Amino acid sequence: MQDKTHLVDEITGHRRMRRNRKADWTRRLVQENRLTVDDLIWPVFIVPGSNIIEPIPAMPGVNRMSVDRLVEAAKEAADLGIPAIATFPNIEMELRDETGSNALEANNLINQATIAVKKAVPNIGMITDVALDPFTSHGHDGILRGDEIVNDETVEQVVRAAILQAEAGSDIISPSEMMDGRIGAIRRGLDAAGHQNVGIMAYATKFSSGYYGPYREAISTAGLLKGDKNSYYISPANGMEAIRDAALDVEEGADMLMVKPGLPYLDICWRLKENFGLPTFAYQVSGEYTQIKAAAMNGWIDGERVMMETLLCFKRAGCDGILTYFAIEAARKLAKG
Ligand code: PBG
Repeated sequence: MQDKTHLVDEITGHRRMRRNRKADWTRRLVQENRLTVDDLIWPVFIVPGSNIIEPIPAMPGVNRMSVDRLVEAAKEAADLGIPAIATFPNIEMELRDETGSNALEANNLINQATIAVKKAVPNIGMITDVALDPFTSHGHDGILRGDEIVNDETVEQVVRAAILQAEAGSDIISPSEMMDGRIGAIRRGLDAAGHQNVGIMAYATKFSSGYYGPYREAISTAGLLKGDKNSYYISPANGMEAIRDAALDVEEGADMLMVKPGLPYLDICWRLKENFGLPTFAYQVSGEYTQIKAAAMNGWIDGERVMMETLLCFKRAGCDGILTYFAIEAARKLAKG
């Protein structure tokens, strides 16, 4: 039977969206956004010791790796064409203290990893985080005095940690602790120490989110954390505040901006890109990864399809790239075509 064309056309006129969708070749021709391996940054967890690959129960498929195994993994990432990795250390409990002093050890775990990867895999970018949470005995991102995370003292320490990370060979410093004034302070500190070529990816808008749960298990801060991070992370309710916070980072000299978590905050990605035009990244965080994995493991969704869909959606929302635990899996899939 024929469509009742005259009825449809009365409503649509000559507009028929499906003409461009009719065949694989038209769909390819009109495709607006594409995910490539160049868009992927792989966050990795490091542990002390050697020859260790330790699964993280709350993040199926993600492991903590000792530095030697990380070097191998970084080689694989580079071979797949992944531009950069971002490292997060899970250090010994004995090394954690009130002020996160291990962050100021030149030879701490994160710097060891940078040195080893840079030596063995010079063509992969190293992005290192300077928040203090992997180093503090209370799991907060800054220095705790009484019941306050003190801003300026934390910034001073973060600047010193950033210089040590740059000295170890880090290419991009990414401060995730959301202290005020840190971007400018880090920029000045790096420059004064001769690290003009080390960039800053500002966790410009980091929200106080429930999606970080599995990460806190991965670096063993879940059991340590006293209270919440609401006095320094942004409330999920606030979009304008997030833009104002990012504006300060831009003024202070951020080279790149990041939004974290990712998918629930795509509006923020779009607004940052529109407002500032800087390279803008989303961090598809641990809880986002785990949601997809858990549903896929139950057979409730097609995990691979949802993985690729979410990554593409970041591109549509204006992101230049995505930090994602799916990086290797997605890169392999992209390589297969
Ligand atoms: C803290 C930090 C967090 C993540 C990375 N660094 C958040 C937190 O623990 O509060 C989350 C990453 C993830 O969930 O994948 N500086």
